[in-house]
Amino acid sequence: MFRFEVESKNDWWEVEALYDLCFAPGRTALSSYRLREDVAPVADLSIVARDDLGIVAGAIRYWPVSIGGDVALLLGPVAVHPTHQGEGLGGALIHDSMERAARLGWHRVMLVGDEPYYRRFGFQRLSGVVMPPPTNPDRVLGHGVSDGVWEGVAGDVTRFQQG
Ligand SMILES: CC(C)(COP(=O)(O)OP(=O)(O)OC[C@H]1O[C@@H](n2cnc3c(N)ncnc32)[C@H](O)[C@@H]1OP(=O)(O)O)[C@@H](O)C(=O)NCCC(=O)NCCS
Repeated sequence: MFRFEVESKNDWWEVEALYDLCFAPGRTALSSYRLREDVAPVADLSIVARDDLGIVAGAIRYWPVSIGGDVALLLGPVAVHPTHQGEGLGGALIHDSMERAARLGWHRVMLVGDEPYYRRFGFQRLSGVVMPPPTNPDRVLGHGVSDGVWEGVAGDVTRFQQG
């Protein structure tokens, strides 16, 4: 009942409108947005879900980030239109995009979010990985494609620099 497509250039403002609707005003003031400035989202992982009428029902984007000398994906923003929340769409977008990410060779995914929601996807609190302030460290979560990929990864999360 939902069609998943890789986000195209023409989808950008529709997705932005969904994010404006779903997040508190001033969302772009959040520190995670500083990590996205002048960095392109990972194209193949930005997914838009449309309903039967072609209306955007949910969307997810990812950005690359640097953590010391290591690289990870920053998941988000992810949002589902209020009329479709609780139908499993958010979970499906996260599962689908994380599977794509693993196939594309991304081993580490991190995000800033509610642990009670994200633990069902295998996210756990990351200790030693520091988001720009002000970020509650309890909301800094990570997922690894296999055990140990976060071992030794620590330091400030900064804008992605091609290594
Ligand atoms: C968070 C969000 C993407 C989830 O999408 P969704 O399609 O509603 O989620 P799903 O249907 O896959 O899952 C629903 C379940 O998640 C739970 N859930 C949703 N948000 C939660 C939260 N913040 N904390 C804990 N549980 C949460 C629901 O209670 C429900 O639980 P259940 O399965 O036990 O009934 C969506 O609610 C949303 O867009 N919220 C506003 C924007 C936002 O907060 N984005 C995430 C930024 S961290």
